Amino acid sequence: MRLRQDTILITGGTSGIGLELAEQLSARGNTVIVTGRNQERLRRTRESHPYLQAYSVEVTDLASIESFHRHVVADFPTLDVLINNAGLMQNIYFKSASAEGVADEVAVNLTGPILMTQVFLPHLIRQPESAIVNVTSGIAYFAFDKAPIYSASKLGLHSYTQTLRKQLADTSVKVFELAPPRTTKPMFSGSEADNREVDRIPKMPISQVVSALITGMTRDRHEILPGMSKLLRVMGKIRL
Ligand SMILES: NC(=O)c1ccc[n+]([C@@H]2O[C@H](COP(=O)([O-])OP(=O)(O)OC[C@H]3O[C@@H](n4cnc5c(N)ncnc54)[C@H](OP(=O)(O)O)[C@@H]3O)[C@@H](O)[C@H]2O)c1
Repeated sequence: MRLRQDTILITGGTSGIGLELAEQLSARGNTVIVTGRNQERLRRTRESHPYLQAYSVEVTDLASIESFHRHVVADFPTLDVLINNAGLMQNIYFKSASAEGVADEVAVNLTGPILMTQVFLPHLIRQPESAIVNVTSGIAYFAFDKAPIYSASKLGLHSYTQTLRKQLADTSVKVFELAPPRTTKPMFSGSEADNREVDRIPKMPISQVVSALITGMTRDRHEILPGMSKLLRVMGKIRL
């Protein structure tokens, strides 16, 4: 994909990697639509980035996705790239975790991208060239015990991405996976001891993660594992 003059939808585009993606992709001449849930963050994004289209969508709620889909494809009929970036990471210990909290994490990280894809796929297949990007994590390959549901849901998303790519091989839709390593916008927040341990892991600037995705997509590399993520995949295989 050239990623110039495309129309790109990024879930979770109001902060972190999603917002950096929106900035870099806009700078290349693409039309960029971002989504979030928090109204104040959406308002701030519209104010600081008036060139972005910002919408409120709950990616775990099919009705919210379907209503958004109706509006967005009517307003942007050339929409051709979907980036499933919204994610949630929790420091969970099974002995004390609530079933609700655990379910929420699976819903955002795994069910959300699957629902978004299912709803937008008919539109994407009609485009001459299109793409779906699922944002997983280096931790998907490494069974990180301090965020076990995160690891499991991201590994599930990795597997889903592989099967999606196979099933769509004879269509115009290319399927990419971005597995970022720990970045300068860390997601993990837990107990003091857990934070100290996680803090030892090097952080990659989010601008570099996003550049790696753009370069990878323009070169048709389907799996993009910047920085430490490649090593995590190898280490995960050895450990398992
Ligand atoms: N940051 C890292 O170091 C790192 C490393 C590896 C992988 N990743 C992955 O990269 C992606 C982005 O991470 P990040 O750290 O940049 O995230 P972030 O700054 O925490 O932003 C998360 C975004 O997702 C949105 N979101 C969360 N739950 C949602 C829901 N249920 N429905 C709709 N939107 C929702 C948030 O919107 P609201 O605030 O409005 O809810 C926000 O815009 C995630 O998939 C994450 O797992 C991150």
